[in-house]
Order: sequence, then C-alpha cells, then structure tokens
Amino acid sequence: MAEQSTIIITGCSSGIGAYCARALKRDGWRVFATVRRPEDLAALEADGLEALLMDYTKPDTITALVETVTQRTGGRIDALFNNGAYGQPGAVEDLSTDVLRQQFETNVFGWHELTRQVIPVMRTNSRGRIVNCSSILGLLPYRYRGAYTASKFALEGLTVTLRMELQGSGIEVSLIEPGPIDSRFTANALAKIHEHIDLEGSAHAEEYKRQLARLDGNGPINRRKLGPDAVYHVLRHALTSARPKPHYLVTTPAKQGAFLKRLLPAALFYRLMRRLD
Ligand SMILES: NC(=O)c1ccc[n+]([C@@H]2O[C@H](COP(=O)([O-])OP(=O)(O)OC[C@H]3O[C@@H](n4cnc5c(N)ncnc54)[C@H](OP(=O)(O)O)[C@@H]3O)[C@@H](O)[C@H]2O)c1
Repeated sequence: MAEQSTIIITGCSSGIGAYCARALKRDGWRVFATVRRPEDLAALEADGLEALLMDYTKPDTITALVETVTQRTGGRIDALFNNGAYGQPGAVEDLSTDVLRQQFETNVFGWHELTRQVIPVMRTNSRGRIVNCSSILGLLPYRYRGAYTASKFALEGLTVTLRMELQGSGIEVSLIEPGPIDSRFTANALAKIHEHIDLEGSAHAEEYKRQLARLDGNGPINRRKLGPDAVYHVLRHALTSARPKPHYLVTTPAKQGAFLKRLLPAALFYRLMRRLD
C-alpha cells in the first residue's frame, strides 16, 4: 500500500482549519492538526486526528511541533497548511504599534518561522506543498481592517517570493484568498476590537458603532458567506494537482473585488472600496 501523505494544518480549533483537517483525514491523509489551547485537543483526537499544541507567537512551540511531527513520521512532511490567524479591527490611527506588532507576530512572523522549519524537511524528500491561507484582504484594502490587511499583504509578498525561490526544488507554494467564510473569525475579531481599541475616545467613534454592527455579521458582504468546504475545495487542488496555482480566490465577493482592482483606475477603485460597509 502506498504510504499516507502527511500534512500539518494550523489553527484547527474552529472554522477553516477544523473543517479542512477533518476533510483531509476523511480523504486519506495523515493529519497533524494544531491548536493553541490544551482543551481543544480532545475534539480533534476524537475524530482520529493527531492533535498538537502550537502558538505562532511562541517560537519554542513551533520548534516542538516540527520535531514531534518529523519524529512520528520518520522525517516526512508532505504538506503544510498555514491557516491559524486572527483579524485586529480598528482605524489605522487607533492601532498602537504594539497591537500592530501582535497582529504581525501571529499572521506573518509565526507563519514564516514554521515554514522556514518545514522547508528543510521537504528539501530532504525533494517534494512538498506549502499552502498559505491569505485573504481577499491580502490583495485589496478595507476600511478599519488596516492591521489585518497589512499582515495579509505582507504574507502575499513573502509567499509569492518563496514560490519563485523554490521553483525546481519539488516544493510548490500556493495562496488561498477567501472572501467571507463562516467561522469564528468575526467573533474573534469582535473580541480584539473591544480589547485593543478605544472605541469611544476615537475620532472614528461614530463609524465604530456602524462597524460593530457589521462585525456582528449583518453587512451585505457577510450575507454572501460560504462554508469552509469552499476553501477545502481549492486546498485539495493546491495539495494534489500536478500544477498547483499561485492564487486561489474563494467566494464571489473575493473574485469580484480582485477583478475590479485589475480593471478600474486606482482612484476609482479606492472610492468604490471606501463605500463598502
Ligand atoms: N472567515 C473568513 O471570512 C476569512 C476570510 C479570509 C481569510 N480567512 C483566513 O482563514 C484562516 C482561518 O480563519 P477562520 O475563518 O477559520 O477563523 P477562526 O474560526 O477564528 O479560526 C482561526 C484559528 O486560528 C487560530 N489562531 C489564532 N491565533 C493563533 C496563533 N497565535 N497561533 C496559532 N493559531 C492561532 C485560532 O485558535 P484559537 O481558537 O485558539 O483562537 C483558530 O483555531 C485565517 O488565516 C484567516 O485570516 C478567513
């Protein structure tokens, strides 16, 4: 029997990671699914996944994860799906440097470090797939999402560069750029805005009231959400196709946004984006 392919998926306590980890297991992969909290391990283990702790902001947990997986597989990691992240909402002028740094620690630096540690294992085997879950906000801006947008733009830059640098190594690199997907993302973002932004003392106080209603899930874009299975559909292609694409846009709003950005003069495009709630 052919050996099972192995994959590390991060951020599996909810949403896209939780769904894709189980779907890959169902489709015959050996799945190492990571979470940050010990209490989130059991649900994954109950479904036959090998659940491990990893927090992108804690470098020792990244090293321990890669060591454990390579030990258990005898030095084989076929794929990495960087997925665990959060969105810090708030106007750019209301973000402290520390809050912006925290956003990058999770969404960029942690992903970079895990990827850096996995690449040598893949190089030994002369093959591998690295898939990074970006966002449509990695390609275009959105008001009051500056920290998150900046982190995903940075991720896009690193990932497409890495893709070119790894050409010929047998390691393929792809980005998934979803629009709105049903998950805990919005609830987690809501907690972050209350935790880190002075909502009432801000010049944007009135706008925040409207934004909070939107974060509660009532905006027109959120009404066009898809389930995490839509992400799984393209993840499978990125992992198994002979020609994985550099970019996978998911959801109609994401495809429309990317299309309009290419089509429209910049000033007009940003005027349109400005009007989106
Ligand atoms: N949902 C959307 O509309 C949407 C759209 C575009 C892109 N995305 C991207 O999709 C990916 C998955 O998000 P989701 O929608 O599934 O949201 P989610 O339900 O909030 O899941 C996010 C996961 O990331 C984990 N995480 C947060 N901080 C972490 C850290 N420091 N280290 C490791 N893991 C961490 C969370 O763990 P805890 O439970 O411990 O917090 C959770 O497991 C993210 O990269 C996000 O940017 C989502």
